[in-house]
Amino acid sequence: MGISILGAGCCLPQQEVDNHAFESFIETSDEWITTRTGIHCRRISDGILTYQMGAEAARQALENANTSPEEIDMVIATTVTADATTPSLACLAAAEVGIHTAPCMDLNAACTGFVYALDVAEKYLRTDSAKKILIISAEMMSRIVNFKDRSSCVLFGDGAAAVVVGPSDKLYQSWLACNLDGRYKIFSKATNSENPFRQNDFDWPEEVAHMQPGLMEMAGNDVYRFATQAMPEAVQRCCEKAGLAPEQLDRIIPHQANLRIIRTAMKHLGLPEEKVHINIQHYGNISSACIPLSLCEMQRAGELHPGDKICLVGFGSGLTYGAAVLEW
Ligand code: ACO
Repeated sequence: MGISILGAGCCLPQQEVDNHAFESFIETSDEWITTRTGIHCRRISDGILTYQMGAEAARQALENANTSPEEIDMVIATTVTADATTPSLACLAAAEVGIHTAPCMDLNAACTGFVYALDVAEKYLRTDSAKKILIISAEMMSRIVNFKDRSSCVLFGDGAAAVVVGPSDKLYQSWLACNLDGRYKIFSKATNSENPFRQNDFDWPEEVAHMQPGLMEMAGNDVYRFATQAMPEAVQRCCEKAGLAPEQLDRIIPHQANLRIIRTAMKHLGLPEEKVHINIQHYGNISSACIPLSLCEMQRAGELHPGDKICLVGFGSGLTYGAAVLEW
């Protein structure tokens, strides 16, 4: 038994921010950003909340899947930028679309979140514990980006996408992993309240002690090196489990962190760029929302055909990584 993506939806903030907009407050240029990352533009929230983007994407996914809110047995949201520490993004977004009693939970696997969530969903579907699951991936990266750090602030954007998944007899295989040696390479400390009982500073490891709570820091070059080997490894291992050669894949939908990372990874795999969906030029890196946003765009553009074998592959903070192979 496998799973089917029954419908997809997406929502992006209205505000488009091009590379030139950064030139007024950090030392950078459109030319540097374009050539080093492939990014031309990103969307940045001018007030819309993460759960509101997630709810709009979910509404569209339900409609596209011909599914009513009452039919949803479970909601899994993926995010590193929820609006509230509690309740979960899943609870806030699900309520907005008229889901009343289905179990709701958040899953944080950073940019690999959607691939991880799909795998959790598949386990529930396979054991008949659910018939239809709504996955919402929503991110407001502008909430944790340090806009004084030119090496990271130009990379990220905001947005959301959602899918409804159900059981089917189509192919599904996954391969998930972490490289925990890299756990401090992309890091954002939680904020904490004033506390009359704590006299000492928290005993953070040296690597992250200097960081300001609430802002993300990234060792860009280390992450780059990791990503260029992690993506091909995940695709290869997942294909191996599925009994496929990477060349048999019809489409690859990678996490969109840097165009150079995607190109290098595909070169390692020996796969032609025509098979790869790339939209980083328009949206930058929207963490866990990148992969389902691609699915939504491709479905709308009629680029996915029944029977196509597609591979979703991601990497992110943790350092998490993984891939899923499924049949459209
Ligand atoms: N504008 C102009 N110059 C810049 C900018 C900028 N925005 N950012 C960095 N530079 C400078 C650097 O300061 C450096 O200058 P120096 O040589 O005088 O010191 C120079 O450009 C080269 O810097 P590098 O870091 O070597 O540049 P590189 O080509 O490696 O690109 C980048 C940096 C884009 C961050 C790249 O390493 C990358 O994409 N890394 C992966 C990041 C990533 O994927 N993160 C997301 C992970 S997913 C998640 O979970 C969040």
